[in-house]
Amino acid sequence: MSIRIGDICPNFSAATTQGKITFHDWIGDSWAFFFSHPADFTPVCTTEMGMTAKLSQEFAKRNVKPLGLSTDTVEAHNTWILDVNDTQNTTLDFPIVADKDLKISMLYDMIHGAESLTATVRSVFIIDPLKKIRLTMTYPMTVGRNFDEILRVIDALQMGDQYKIATPADWRPGDEVIIPPSISNEAAKDIFPQGWNEIRPYLRTTKV
Ligand code: BEZ
Repeated sequence: MSIRIGDICPNFSAATTQGKITFHDWIGDSWAFFFSHPADFTPVCTTEMGMTAKLSQEFAKRNVKPLGLSTDTVEAHNTWILDVNDTQNTTLDFPIVADKDLKISMLYDMIHGAESLTATVRSVFIIDPLKKIRLTMTYPMTVGRNFDEILRVIDALQMGDQYKIATPADWRPGDEVIIPPSISNEAAKDIFPQGWNEIRPYLRTTKV
């Protein structure tokens, strides 16, 4: 099943390293960073798990709960977490789903057959508190994800929700933002009383 931006994320119940969860209930009023990785005890995955753990405060500040997944057992995950903590100098404090039977991997289209029939690629789903899929990204097995980008896109989504704006290429918090074309100049006067810079009628930038 392919999962698209705007879809409600498929719900599931699963065993994790922190007990059984039902995904929608587990998300609750938070955002979720749901990410798959090919296998336990592999080098790239170990660095990604360590990085997610190190960024725990950054995710918490944004009201985002990380949830990992791989097609290994809870027992394997728990042993591997000791290695992650040891080698990455951190304390992994988020749950990892055990998806040995590939049920959730299939549900979320994380198995890409030309890569592997049994291990997931590096999928990312950013999900909002309404359980809506807000971003998907798919990385190959051999390329570790860029966690700056993951935090940046969460910032951009949350800023967009709060201020009804869009963000330009390479936007960073504090940079100018874009007034979407769907907002007329008349409406923009109320929403952006600080004014804006009209570079083209379709390209208006402002500070929020
Ligand atoms: C890794 O996580 O290191 C990895 C997993 C599968 C293929 C290549 C690398």
